[in-house]
Amino acid sequence: MSAKAVRLDKLLANLGYGSRREIQGLARAGAIRLDGAEWADAGDRITLEPDLPNRLVIDGAPLDPLPGLCLMLHKPLGVTCSHKEAGPLVYGLLPERWRRREPPLSTVGRLDKETSGLLLLTDDGALLHRIISPKANVAKRYRVTLDRPLTGNEAAVFASGTLMLEGEARPLLPVDLVADDAIHCAVTLTEGRYHQVRRMFAAVGNHVTALHRDRVGGLDLPEDLAAGDYRIMSPAAVARVLAAS
Ligand code: URA
Repeated sequence: MSAKAVRLDKLLANLGYGSRREIQGLARAGAIRLDGAEWADAGDRITLEPDLPNRLVIDGAPLDPLPGLCLMLHKPLGVTCSHKEAGPLVYGLLPERWRRREPPLSTVGRLDKETSGLLLLTDDGALLHRIISPKANVAKRYRVTLDRPLTGNEAAVFASGTLMLEGEARPLLPVDLVADDAIHCAVTLTEGRYHQVRRMFAAVGNHVTALHRDRVGGLDLPEDLAAGDYRIMSPAAVARVLAAS
């Protein structure tokens, strides 16, 4: 399939560089260069080759990633997965211009404000729905710290497929629990119900004091990705998320 051609002013406006008029101003001022040559008219079409961010320079800096962007973020504690709530948001951890992208970047599911770990973001709605669709069966693994020691029954209760959360009409699908010691364990689940892990432990009389997600599908949170940092995902990393885990 041949690459699509789009008006440069539209492409840049959708990447958050400004209004079409502002972008035309940048072009007139000689601030847009393709392969080193000035791009004089922002109304001209440009071919969306995947290597465009290496070739197109805006105001002295390489072009931002093209639409179809997928990121992994190491979500720190204390930030919210929302576009509009008060307080620090995960989007505040990304470059400022990326908040004006169209289509916008959205989180793939959510982590609570007080949960840390691997969070994916994408502007590709079809990919987002593929990952969160129950059919995809993407497993999420959480490292849990508990207030009280495990009793030894939790693994069987969670695996039973009969555990009901308060206020819900359907039991949870089976969840895998592996204990590390009396108050630390890993749980792996495929659903993503509201506050699921915290409510599961509340249902068996315990309380989660710390929660961290370290794996989504077959993708582990990289050890060298510090809390608050993000990385652009390669197609291979995206495929790992969807690979049977
Ligand atoms: N379960 C929770 O309780 N919180 C999260 O952030 C994710 C899963």
